[in-house]
Amino acid sequence: MSPRSGLIPTTAPVPAYHELKGRLAFVTGAATGIGRAIAVALARQGVRVALGDINLAAAEAAAAELGGGAVAVEIDVRQRASVEAAFARVLEQLGGCDLLVANAGVSTMRPALELTDEEWDFNFDVNTRGVFLTNQIAARHFVAQGKGCIVNTASLAAKVGAPLLAHYSASKFAVLGWTQALARELAGKGIRVNAVCPGFVATGMQSREVEWEASLRGVTPGQVIEDYIAQTPLGRLEVPEDVADVVVFLASEQARFMTGQGVNVTGGVYTT
Ligand SMILES: NC(=O)c1ccc[n+]([C@@H]2O[C@H](COP(=O)([O-])OP(=O)(O)OC[C@H]3O[C@@H](n4cnc5c(N)ncnc54)[C@H](O)[C@@H]3O)[C@@H](O)[C@H]2O)c1
Repeated sequence: MSPRSGLIPTTAPVPAYHELKGRLAFVTGAATGIGRAIAVALARQGVRVALGDINLAAAEAAAAELGGGAVAVEIDVRQRASVEAAFARVLEQLGGCDLLVANAGVSTMRPALELTDEEWDFNFDVNTRGVFLTNQIAARHFVAQGKGCIVNTASLAAKVGAPLLAHYSASKFAVLGWTQALARELAGKGIRVNAVCPGFVATGMQSREVEWEASLRGVTPGQVIEDYIAQTPLGRLEVPEDVADVVVFLASEQARFMTGQGVNVTGGVYTT
């Protein structure tokens, strides 16, 4: 299926969410891919962003390119001490924080019956424990200051189990369970917690998955990509900006009555 040009992101003026101007955001996994696009989209709204990543050099390069007072912070979302130190650094460097985007994530691909304990733990440590730790540490600060907002990056694989990604799917289903429960606990304190569920997004993660899937299925990488597009009713691969624009919306006042949601941004791949 060929891309439908009318549905490709344009360079049209960015809608302005005026209340976001001057806000302070911490985005994890922000050195590349979806996280980086989220940092860019927030910065365009006048949000000052701290780009957190395990790859500090790449986060520094992304922050320098972004400008506008963006800073880079080293974080390993699997480790409580690292998350605490990183969040303290964000508060120090930005002078506060009112938005957390917990986006850092990893994937590996393996038939479920060949999966090792190590691979299971790696996916859960980054994708699930990482969301737990970053959300908890940021939310304590948000409760103390009486305002704040959280957006977690889950996945299409958090809504429907994906073959060869059973461990990844399980780790992302858990993110939605956590998001729903935390949202209900914090609603009375005026703090909203939502998640986005991207589909087949063209990033480094996808490039790695395409190679693994091609070799596990005995097809070419090009065939895997064609299959992704064929599964996508809107007819093209998703791009990081498709996700980033929805994250900005969820962070804005326009989404003031939304909490505990896992919002699909998939081009229609899965609609429930
Ligand atoms: N690409 C897709 O098709 C897709 C689809 C659905 C959901 N997602 C989710 O979107 C998020 C971003 O994925 P992406 O496609 O941009 O991937 P990516 O690999 O391009 O970027 C992930 C970033 O997270 C960082 N990271 C990895 N482990 C970390 C850790 N322990 N601590 C801190 N940072 C760490 C990496 O260094 C990298 O910069 C992930 O949560 C992923 O599961 C991606």
